[in-house]
Amino acid sequence: MDLKEKIKQLKNELDVTVVAHFYQKDEVFDLADITGDSLELAKKSVAAPTQNIIFCGVGFMGQSVKVLAPQKRVLMPKIACCAMAKMIDVEYYNMNLKILNEAGISNEDILPITYINSSAEVKAEVGKMGGFVCTSSNAYKIINKGLESGKKIFFVPDRCLGQNFAKQIGLKSAVVGIDDIEDVKSADIICFNGFCSVHQLFTPEDVDFYKQKYPDILVAVHPECDPAVVEKADFVGSTSQLIKYITEDLSPEQKVVVGTEFNMVNRLREKNTFILSSTKPECPTMNETTLEDLYDTLLSIKDGSYKNEIIVDDDVVHYAKIALNRMFEV
Ligand code: 13P
Ligand code: SF4
Repeated sequence: MDLKEKIKQLKNELDVTVVAHFYQKDEVFDLADITGDSLELAKKSVAAPTQNIIFCGVGFMGQSVKVLAPQKRVLMPKIACCAMAKMIDVEYYNMNLKILNEAGISNEDILPITYINSSAEVKAEVGKMGGFVCTSSNAYKIINKGLESGKKIFFVPDRCLGQNFAKQIGLKSAVVGIDDIEDVKSADIICFNGFCSVHQLFTPEDVDFYKQKYPDILVAVHPECDPAVVEKADFVGSTSQLIKYITEDLSPEQKVVVGTEFNMVNRLREKNTFILSSTKPECPTMNETTLEDLYDTLLSIKDGSYKNEIIVDDDVVHYAKIALNRMFEV
């Protein structure tokens, strides 16, 4: 029996749901019970009827399920960490607040919003300050909700997401450590200086190249792309929103060039779809998970050794859940 068949057999035998993000390798993705963007995966995993969840994705995704459903056992075939989420920890978060405080912006004047691509510890800090979590599919809504507080938004860790949505709403953004402190002081949305190295690979020149080659082509990108790229795009959305746009909203003849991770775009190649980069934009950590890892994790449920179980401190669960639930309320 080949490995895929062995995995299918174990899945049938065990009380487990296999969850995979769109950026996973095809071999892993094809065996998942649940797929989706970050928000959908969090919701669907929590609602899954099984006690065990095997999450094929990056660390913050598995952690979010554990925070929302601590009674479940969450295992990750690889504890792969999103490079952007790694750019901020509680120390950096507090260091940035200190810079803002020294510039005359007190914590009472700040409402923090963290992109879901952050550790549970950072989410907990945001929860303690009355803030929200957001994802790429709902950032516009959550930022608008946050602005109702009349406070400045401190957006972490993705500066591009903060800058892109500020522009969309028509507000001023500035990045701590990059922009002049006077600009930071007068900004409505203050961004932490983090980014996704994969989405940084797409450039405005790549857009120009495709538009020159195929004048009728449309450009669809993820909001983690640089604002100079997003500005030139016809559609901006989360991974699920991009898939829906390409497979449901566009006619099959419509050419579209896509600015997001390779594995996902490659699965859409029959839909007149091109990848917006001359290099192969693979997410290295998403690609770490292999069929063998998935098989070993299933075996570990069978023998009770529970490989790579996600554990989050009770206190962190408590405050991170507050920030996540605030997002769900909106
Ligand atoms: P989505 O929530 O759009 O799936 O994005 C997750 C991510 O990490 C994109 O790089
Ligand atoms: Fe993180 Fe970027 Fe990979 Fe998404 S593509 S998981 S933001 S490193």
